[in-house]
Amino acid sequence: MFELCASILAANPENLARDVQDAETAGVDAFHIDLMDGCFVPAVSFDTRVVRAMRAMTKKPLDVHLMVDRPLNYVEELADLGVESISVHYEVPGGAEPALKAIRAAGLKAGLVLNPETSISAALPYLEQIDQLLLMTVHPGHGGQAYLSGSNEKITAARAMTQILGSSVVIQVDGGINLKTLPGAYKAGARSIVAGSAVFCGNIQKNVLRLQSEPDLE
Ligand code: DX5
Ligand code: ZN
Repeated sequence: MFELCASILAANPENLARDVQDAETAGVDAFHIDLMDGCFVPAVSFDTRVVRAMRAMTKKPLDVHLMVDRPLNYVEELADLGVESISVHYEVPGGAEPALKAIRAAGLKAGLVLNPETSISAALPYLEQIDQLLLMTVHPGHGGQAYLSGSNEKITAARAMTQILGSSVVIQVDGGINLKTLPGAYKAGARSIVAGSAVFCGNIQKNVLRLQSEPDLE
């Protein structure tokens, strides 16, 4: 079993409420919201107003992925808006620790994100401070990219690290997940799966059903 987090970056912005309702009815477990500031990544996506709107649209958990230079500045507002989890990049200037501490102090689940080129060992000092380890399986900043080769090996290494240390940290993957790539990521040890295009492009009900009933995951 895995948790399916629908990344609303791929939803239709003109019909966000309808797409979110469809995904919820289809049975997604949570919604993943990418906040980009145009500095940590070149693109700009949603800001906290979209998080507020999402909170009014759904009771499902909201999982926020901060692709911003100053994650600490967002934590209090996101906690007040009622999100369940916030993930912070290892690569941010000054390091992720202050924001991770603030997220936990606010009573939320904390996630550490590793870019594709960052090695798994970077997460070692953080394992006690986090609930999920998000491995980027594409370069952050855009939806609809291809799953990077070598990602499954990285998930396997992360899973081995958490098992050896007796850590209950959940491994989450983000980027390029579809019916072809999901089985490999799952088998390697990912148990929280972020999917944008694979959920929102085309028929949402069918997409979610197919992802959740992927036979290779038995
Ligand atoms: C990419 C974002 C992802 C994105 C995934 O930087 O973090 O959450 O929405 O999109 P897909 O599933 O289309 O690769
Ligand atoms: Zn994301």
